Amino acid sequence: MDIKGMLVHMHSGLRWVVLLLLIYAIINAARSISSGKYLKKDKMVNLFTMISLHVQLLIGLILYFISPKVTFFEGWMKDSMTRFFAMEHIVLMVIAIAIITIGRSRAEKKLEGTRNKHRAILITYTIGLILILASIPWPFGRWASFGAGLG
Ligand code: HEM
Repeated sequence: MDIKGMLVHMHSGLRWVVLLLLIYAIINAARSISSGKYLKKDKMVNLFTMISLHVQLLIGLILYFISPKVTFFEGWMKDSMTRFFAMEHIVLMVIAIAIITIGRSRAEKKLEGTRNKHRAILITYTIGLILILASIPWPFGRWASFGAGLG
């Protein structure tokens, strides 16, 4: 397998890590909101979730420059696959990762009070999760023709 194939494989597989960590962090924030504590464990869960997203962002950025699915021929916006990979996927994912990064940074540095910290994580990680779920090229529905795997 070539480098590009390896990166697509990693990017595809890492989606499950990202999704599981996000769900875990959201449940953790919801359960801890009234605990009166913001523990080291909470910090770690929120941090590792964000790191997994940033790794995904990095691999995605490299793929953006080498993937044959990202091309800017005349009329690329009218082709649903190129429009998706060259624009929709990257824009929505970057917005999701930015919202999550800002939420975590506010929880860690700006907000006072454990309830506010957990609430910031709960809200921003949930918005991020929804955007991410909506812009993953799942092998069903309108993405079926893109040939994306479940790797
Ligand atoms: C949480 C963030 C992200 C998730 C969960 C995600 C997930 C995925 C998945 C599941 C695929 C299909 C892989 C396959 O064919 O099996 C894919 C493809 C792709 N992603 Fe992402 N992605 C994310 C962020 C990004 C970002 C930020 C970029 C660009 C900067 C990006 C660029 C791409 C490209 C170019 C492809 C097409 C690769 C190819 O098949 O040639 N992704 N992504």
